[in-house]
Amino acid sequence: MIKTSDNPGQSPATERRDFLYYATASTGAVAAGAAVWPLINSMNPSADVTASGTVRVDLSGVEPGQRITVKWQGRPVFVWRRSPAAIEAARAVDLNQLPDPVDEAGENPNASGEEPALDENRAAGEDGEWLVVIGVCTHLGCIPLGQDGSAVGEFGGWF
Ligand code: FES
Repeated sequence: MIKTSDNPGQSPATERRDFLYYATASTGAVAAGAAVWPLINSMNPSADVTASGTVRVDLSGVEPGQRITVKWQGRPVFVWRRSPAAIEAARAVDLNQLPDPVDEAGENPNASGEEPALDENRAAGEDGEWLVVIGVCTHLGCIPLGQDGSAVGEFGGWF
């Protein structure tokens, strides 16, 4: 006698039907995925758009206290290598003196919307040496003064 099943109550026809069912369902799922994938993939940005979203900047020549401006997607980006004194002054600020002590707008993608607007949450790196900001005013889009050191705003920032 040939054993056709581990389940003695199941006939060979039922086993064959189950196999065909699973094989057809698997083939259908693969075919559906293959048909839908080009549509989903077409929604990704093209290589030239992805490349334009990234800018590599050599910061090796930037001295402490120096500021440089980099253009990114047509906008100025201010890079400030802060001195230890500037970092200390920024971290000594009482947050209650600020108009926005909490990042309620969620403008820092690295912090939740409830994070206090501490200098540590806004500067790059643990030591906070690098401050990188888009150099466009949030009011109406002017380019703030102070990047060249001629007119420095509050807290050594921009005006
Ligand atoms: S756009 Fe109004 S102050 Fe900058």
